[in-house]
Amino acid sequence: SVKDAVGRKMKLSVKKRVKLEIKVDKVENRVLALSSHRAFLLTARIPSKVEHNFNYLEIQGIACNKPTQLTVDYERGVVSLKLTSTEEVNEVVAHIGICLQRICPGLSPLKLMKKLSMEPPERITSLQTLWDNHKVAEPGPCGGFSQMYRCVCDWLGLPYREEVQWDVDTIYLTQDTRDLSLQDFSHLENRDLVAIIAVLEYNQWFTKLSTKDCKLSADVSDQILRVVARSSRLEELVLDNAGLTRDFAQKLANALSHNPNSGLHTVNLANNPLEDRGITSLGAQFAKLPKGLKHLNFSKTSLSPKGVNSLAQSLSANQSILSTLSLLDLSGNILRADDIP
Ligand SMILES: *[C@@H]1O[C@H](CO)[C@@H](O)[C@H](O)[C@H]1NC(C)=O
Ligand SMILES: *[C@@H]1O[C@H](CO)[C@@H](O)[C@H](O)[C@H]1NC(C)=O
Repeated sequence: SVKDAVGRKMKLSVKKRVKLEIKVDKVENRVLALSSHRAFLLTARIPSKVEHNFNYLEIQGIACNKPTQLTVDYERGVVSLKLTSTEEVNEVVAHIGICLQRICPGLSPLKLMKKLSMEPPERITSLQTLWDNHKVAEPGPCGGFSQMYRCVCDWLGLPYREEVQWDVDTIYLTQDTRDLSLQDFSHLENRDLVAIIAVLEYNQWFTKLSTKDCKLSADVSDQILRVVARSSRLEELVLDNAGLTRDFAQKLANALSHNPNSGLHTVNLANNPLEDRGITSLGAQFAKLPKGLKHLNFSKTSLSPKGVNSLAQSLSANQSILSTLSLLDLSGNILRADDIP
């Protein structure tokens, strides 16, 4: 009945009888079933029905503060469960960690679960040892991009495109490039681009995201902002002539301010009307980039002398920029040397 409810094709590797906490002292029987990238909580009657389900990438935190308790906080809700033993709770958390490690090689399950608390804390130490023993030796082409892409599509409820996998596993692999270029996927729909970009939140292979002469839709540019806010791997961002305005520039500055681990050092926003206001917001954040700003291209961005002066002021506030910055392109803006001391 559980198999019928989740779909016969879904491979379930862990199944447990659990009690769902409805209220403080009220519990009801349920079945917890785990696949390779999604958890299902089902009713314990026949026919069984899926009541909650979440992709492991949606997890915001896991808490096991009593011996048989398991609380999972995910993007769309919280479930608090009681299992029959501490060992069973450990087994469930261990399974989710092993799956996350397989989906996102190179990232620790602890980091991917965002918050894991267990009582006593030694339980985490033994899980960590178990995960260390299950480390993925060979993640697959381009840092295991394709399996991450499959999981991200499942997470976002988007169709999985075989051609994306093919492009990455063959063309990108043979070119040995770390530049994910959206032009290569420009024949796909925007929502497909969203899934491809979302992979960069986790992927440890690609260090550059680029696009040229292609207007980015709001959902696509929002997803780029999410990657900027979360990735520590992204070093170069090239959004040349992408129809971006000062509003995007301000959001980009905000995304950077939320990422203390950003690896970004090269930014090209040429041919977008960002205007003085947009560039002023960005200048303040670029001066703080942890890795140091190296290349900045603001060619043809509707800058005036006012914007240039404010940018220069922000950048010179950080002495180390003098040794890192090796390219600054402000061409194609209407500037007079007299106005920009
Ligand atoms: C100045 O830039 C360096 C990188 O070159 C960075 O590590 C540091 O945090 C920046 N300082 C401030 C005050 O933002
Ligand atoms: C800045 O970007 C524009 C558009 O991509 C490019 O044509 C120009 O060569 C870049 N500037 C430098 C100095 O690389």
